[in-house]
Amino acid sequence: MNDFWIDAAALDELPAEDVKGVQLEGLDIALYRVQGEVYATSDICTHAQARLCEGFLEGHEIECPLHQGRFDVRSGKAMCAPLTEDLKVYPVKIEGGRVFIALD
Ligand code: FES
Repeated sequence: MNDFWIDAAALDELPAEDVKGVQLEGLDIALYRVQGEVYATSDICTHAQARLCEGFLEGHEIECPLHQGRFDVRSGKAMCAPLTEDLKVYPVKIEGGRVFIALD
């Protein structure tokens, strides 16, 4: 069930059109703020363990800094080689200026 909401960050801490890495409950999570919406995925690339928060966000796609694989941050879908596995995504809600992530 996705009802385990964790306070991840202040909305103000997330720069527009950028990505920020946080650690929650021992998990590495990447938070993205794109066109006023916030998305959350695993921060670890499914290809070879690189940190996506050190990558390059363009629109809704995050480019891995290691081999330039790209994921859609809304769905986690792997968009190109060398990726073969989608990225885990987490539900997000905004309340009282805070960003909450549902970890399952
Ligand atoms: Fe991300 Fe290779 S580690 S594309």
